[in-house]
Amino acid sequence: MTRTAIITGANTGLGFECARAVLAAAPMWHVVLAVRDPARGADAAARLSAPRRATVLELDLASLESVRTFPSRLGAAGLPPVHSVVCNAGVQVVGDSATTADGFELTFGVNHLGHFALVQGLLDVLARPARIVVVSSGTHDPDKHTGMPAPRYTSAGELAHDTGQGPTEGRRRYTTSKLCNVLFAYELDRRLEHGRQGVSVTAFDPGLMPGSGLARDYPPVQRLAWRYLLPALRVLPGVRSTRASGRYLAALAVDPSHDGVTGQYFAGRKPIRSSTDSYDLDKARDLWETSEQLVVQARA
Ligand SMILES: NC(=O)c1ccc[n+]([C@@H]2O[C@H](COP(=O)([O-])OP(=O)(O)OC[C@H]3O[C@@H](n4cnc5c(N)ncnc54)[C@H](OP(=O)(O)O)[C@@H]3O)[C@@H](O)[C@H]2O)c1
Repeated sequence: MTRTAIITGANTGLGFECARAVLAAAPMWHVVLAVRDPARGADAAARLSAPRRATVLELDLASLESVRTFPSRLGAAGLPPVHSVVCNAGVQVVGDSATTADGFELTFGVNHLGHFALVQGLLDVLARPARIVVVSSGTHDPDKHTGMPAPRYTSAGELAHDTGQGPTEGRRRYTTSKLCNVLFAYELDRRLEHGRQGVSVTAFDPGLMPGSGLARDYPPVQRLAWRYLLPALRVLPGVRSTRASGRYLAALAVDPSHDGVTGQYFAGRKPIRSSTDSYDLDKARDLWETSEQLVVQARA
């Protein structure tokens, strides 16, 4: 039977390669490219060369109104049942701090809160069994010494309104948002009773993927290095092409070999332990409860 996989930020980078790999995995899969710019989404869909198996739907994770109305756009598209959701889209803002349409700090708002609200809105429409994969990053773990500032989880309320300036604070907000991704994935898994409700949840570190669009907000010299010099490092462990990471991500999202796998964190294809803080139940509860409040508050 045909099934749908929704991939956020699928017009480029890791999300696009994940879509390509899902389509290649088995002919029964249909992909939704959930993107903020439908024109870029349409270009990407054309590059996938599977017009009957790819649908572009608008989703701006920086607008909770757009996230809230996504399930109705999905319903109107009349697609096969949704069995997989990949929370992939992400930003790294190193310039001045910016906010979402609802006034929340942009990195936290897009990388965590938008996906939190999206998953809440989709849980009722997901067919079972279903999988949710949340894309994090090894940079969420200070013990990995990635060169990025260590995350600083104060409280979700503070993160939502963080206004610290400068590139270090911007990069710290990114690593903190990636910690939020893992905290959210584990808490979701607990609340869904570790797969007993028919939904499994995993978190994923794609590794360093030089050349992707993630450094688009970096100063010009660093952007050039990211695009042209760093790709030469792909021979090092933990450095991968978007295509290789897209295959691993697609496997978590749809491959039968991962049936029943839940509550785990994968670095590429390997399940590993995530950071110490990611297992902190108080932080996970604070993140969940505050996120619920922020979503309600934005609606008022
Ligand atoms: N690149 C790396 O080395 C690396 C390492 C570890 C983890 N990751 C994670 O991998 C994921 C994908 O990153 P990438 O490297 O593929 O970056 P990318 O090439 O910049 O792709 C990011 C995607 O997110 C989308 N996006 C940004 N803001 C959005 C919004 N408000 N609403 C909806 N979509 C939005 C972008 O859409 P537009 O094209 O319209 O901007 C784009 O499709 C991210 O979660 C990132 O944190 C990346």
